[in-house]
Amino acid sequence: MTQVKRKTSIAIAAIFLATLAWQQLGPRSPARWTELDLMVLQRLSLDSLPPLPTDPTNAVADDPRAARLGHQFFFDTRLSANGAVSCATCHQPERRFTDGLAKGRGIGLSGRNTRSIVGTAYSPWLYWDGRRDSQWAQALSPVEDPAEHGANRMQFVRFIANDPDYRSQYEVIFGPLPDFSDRTRFPDAAAPIANSEVSAAWLGMTDEDRKSVNRTYANIGKAIAAYERLIMPGPSRFDVYVRALLSGNGKTAQGILTKDEILGLQLFINEARCTECHNGPLLTNNEFHNTGILSFPGELPDRGRIDGIKKVLSDPFNCLGDYSDDPEKRCAELTYVRTGVELIGASRTPSLRNLGGTAPYSHKGQNETIAGLLDLYNRAPLAMIGHNEAEQKLNLSRRELKQLEAFLNALDAPLATSEEWLSAP
Ligand code: HEC
Ligand code: HEC
Repeated sequence: MTQVKRKTSIAIAAIFLATLAWQQLGPRSPARWTELDLMVLQRLSLDSLPPLPTDPTNAVADDPRAARLGHQFFFDTRLSANGAVSCATCHQPERRFTDGLAKGRGIGLSGRNTRSIVGTAYSPWLYWDGRRDSQWAQALSPVEDPAEHGANRMQFVRFIANDPDYRSQYEVIFGPLPDFSDRTRFPDAAAPIANSEVSAAWLGMTDEDRKSVNRTYANIGKAIAAYERLIMPGPSRFDVYVRALLSGNGKTAQGILTKDEILGLQLFINEARCTECHNGPLLTNNEFHNTGILSFPGELPDRGRIDGIKKVLSDPFNCLGDYSDDPEKRCAELTYVRTGVELIGASRTPSLRNLGGTAPYSHKGQNETIAGLLDLYNRAPLAMIGHNEAEQKLNLSRRELKQLEAFLNALDAPLATSEEWLSAP
C-alpha cells in the first residue's frame, strides 16, 4: 500500500515537473500539454502496462515447456484437414500475426478479418464478438472451424498421442495421455460440430470418454496459450516521447515525434475523443462498441457482441466450465457479463499498436486504409444495425485527419518478443 502511494506521488511529481519544463519551451514547440493531458499520456504509455496477470484457469500458462510445445502447434500444418493450414497461415509474425486479407483464408473463407494476437493475454475476451473468454479456450476453435483448420478434436488428440515427439512433451507437462487406441470407443473423427457424421460419432461415445478427449484437447489449447502469452508489443516512438516528457525535461522530448504527429496526438486525446474507447497502454478498453462500420454491399451487418455473449456463456471451455484449472472458479467477467441492447452490432475495441502491419482494418476488413476509416469516424454514419456510439460527427479538416493518421503510425514498433518465437520452431 505504502509502495503504491509512493509510486503515485512520484508519478504526480514527475507530471508536475514535466508540465513546468514544457511550459518553458514556449512558442517553438508544436504542443503545450496540460497537466491533465500528461496524465492521459502517461496512461497510454507502454510503461504503464502492468505485469502480465496470472491466468488461474490455465495451470501451465507460464510454464516454458508448455510455451515451447504451443509454439510447435502454432506452426504445425499437419493439424488441419488438408495438411496445409496452421495458426500461422493467418497469424503471420511478420504481419503482426495477421494475414493482410480482408477475411481470413484457411480451408475455407472466414466470416471476419483476422485479428492480431499481440498482447491478447491482457484481454478478458477473445474475437471481435468476444465469444471466448481465455486464450486457451479460443485456441480450440480454429481446429474445428471449417474455414480454418477444418479438423476435429478426436483426430487432433489422436495425432498428438501417435506422434512420439508430441506425446513425450505432452506427458512431461500434463501427465499420461489417455489410451485412445480402441476405435470402437474412440472413432476416427468425432466432435460436436456441424458435420452430422462427425457429431453422431461424438454423441455415440460415453460421457467419460468424451471428457477425456476434451481434457486432452483443452490441454493443447493451454500450451498454445502459454506460447501466445509471450507475444507482446514493444515501445514505439510515442512511448519514448512520453517517457522523455515525463522525465521532467521537456527538451529531451524534442524531435522524437514530428509536429504533425504531436498535433495528431492532441486530437486523439482531446477533440477527436478516441480515448473514450482506445485507452490504456494497449490503446483498447477491451470493451464492445458499435462504431457504425458499414458492411460490404450485399452482406448482412454483423450482429457482433449480442450473439458473442450467448456463445461464450454456452462454451464448455469457458471460465466456469469443467476444464478450467481454477478450483475457485473466479469468473467475475463471465458471471457479470454486460448484456444490453447497445451490444447489437458491437465489436471488441482493437489495440491501435502496430496498425502498420495489420491492414485491412475493421471486423470484416471493410477499410483498406486508416485514412478511409478515419473519414468514416469523421462522418459518423448511421449504423446499419443497432446504434452508432460514435455518432457525433468529428468535423475534422483534411489536414487534421492526416495528423491523426500520422500519430497512429507513430505507435508502430518491433514486438517485445524474442526472435526465436517469431518464426517456426
Ligand atoms: C483461416 C485463418 C485462421 C486460422 C488458420 C487461425 N485463425 Fe485465429 N483468427 C482468424 C480470424 C478471422 C479471427 C477473427 C474471427 C472473429 O473474431 O470472429 C481470428 C482470431 C483469433 C484470435 C483472437 C484475437 C483477438 O484479439 O480477439 C486468436 C487469439 C487467434 N485467432 C488465435 C489462433 C490460433 C491459436 C490458431 C490455431 C490453432 C488460429 N488462430 C488459427 C483467422 C484464423
Ligand atoms: C465508441 C468507441 C470508439 C471510439 C470513440 C473510437 N473507436 Fe476506434 N474502434 C472502436 C471499435 C469497437 C473498433 C472496431 C470496429 C469494428 O470493426 O466493428 C474500432 C476500430 C478502430 C480502428 C481499426 C483497427 C483495426 O485493427 O481494425 C482504428 C484505426 C481506430 N478504431 C481508430 C480510432 C480513432 C483514431 C478514433 C478517434 C477518432 C477512434 N478509433 C474512436 C471503438 C472506438
